[in-house]
Amino acid sequence: MSRRTVLMGAIEQALRAPSVHNTQPWRWRIRSDGAELHADWNRHLVATDPDRRDLVLSCGAALHHLQVALAARGMAVQVRRMPDAEDRGHLATVAVRLGPADAADAAQFRAIGGRRTDRRRMSHRPVPADHLQALVEHARRTGAQLLLMTDPAMRRRLTATITDAAHRQEFAPGYAAELQQWTRRYAAGRDGVSATTVTAAPVGLTGVSLLRRFPRGTLTQPRQAPGDGPADDAAELLVIVTPHDDPLDWLHAGEATSAVLLAATGLGLTTTPLSQPLEVEATRHALRWDVLRVPEHPQLVVRVGWPVTGAAELPSTPRRDLRSVLLRL
Ligand SMILES: Cc1cc2nc3c(=O)[nH]c(=O)nc-3n(C[C@H](O)[C@H](O)[C@H](O)COP(=O)(O)O)c2cc1C
Repeated sequence: MSRRTVLMGAIEQALRAPSVHNTQPWRWRIRSDGAELHADWNRHLVATDPDRRDLVLSCGAALHHLQVALAARGMAVQVRRMPDAEDRGHLATVAVRLGPADAADAAQFRAIGGRRTDRRRMSHRPVPADHLQALVEHARRTGAQLLLMTDPAMRRRLTATITDAAHRQEFAPGYAAELQQWTRRYAAGRDGVSATTVTAAPVGLTGVSLLRRFPRGTLTQPRQAPGDGPADDAAELLVIVTPHDDPLDWLHAGEATSAVLLAATGLGLTTTPLSQPLEVEATRHALRWDVLRVPEHPQLVVRVGWPVTGAAELPSTPRRDLRSVLLRL
């Protein structure tokens, strides 16, 4: 098999990476010795993601998926991030090198096909501490840090920050229009968030929801027998943080996002990325100074828990064709 064919196969798997509103804001160029990753600024959610943080994080997730897919094919790689000072859209160059593939990356490969963003209620079964520690380690390998929000007071403050962000976005010019645009794609569309992956707004539930409200949803919540515990679940909240707050750190944060989501999937856990508190300047600062109280910069919240026993398998979300995202040489 030619190297180009191998690279095309690996990029095809990198397309399975998660992205904000499933915008898939990436372009790829295949080179003789590897591949280049470029941002697709045309897919920027201007009102939702004014800094382009989510956009670059999404590309970082795709970059990590590519490293995993190449490692699974036995290939060692060298990654140069932000390699071109004249072109900030050129986010990374991945070059295939001689040598052994990264075994830890290769071990995550199986999770690429099974990972889903799960917006449903999760189980009441607690996530074991050693599983959370494993996720911390996976994030650390990518140059980011994962903070656990297991302390109840910290969790309460985080919850308040997330709901504050959601409230502010309701009134932000253009936010609702972008939600509509990316949830009402035409039937054969291969991007956006489909109604089948979003639950309907819960009727009569008084508790706060941490999840982004999408305009419509047809996904049913898993059954919960009456008297089977509170409506709330035992999902944990984790926050990915980085030392600085520039596009290079956003790229690392995206790689960490992919590493954490794939590792969690591999452990049988289910996950939801939550980016709203990072999209609003005031809540991003509140998250850093009032919730985390650390010098690092928060980049994304990840919700993780066990799926409810018997919960239906989630449908896989669509992706654009490889042809549509390849750049010519
Ligand atoms: C940077 C980033 C931010 C995201 N923010 C949210 C969010 O706030 N709420 C949500 O429900 N999903 C969020 N997602 C998940 C995407 O909507 C999801 O990845 C996309 O729709 C594709 O679906 P999949 O993850 O099941 O493949 C985010 C994903 C990324 C990478």
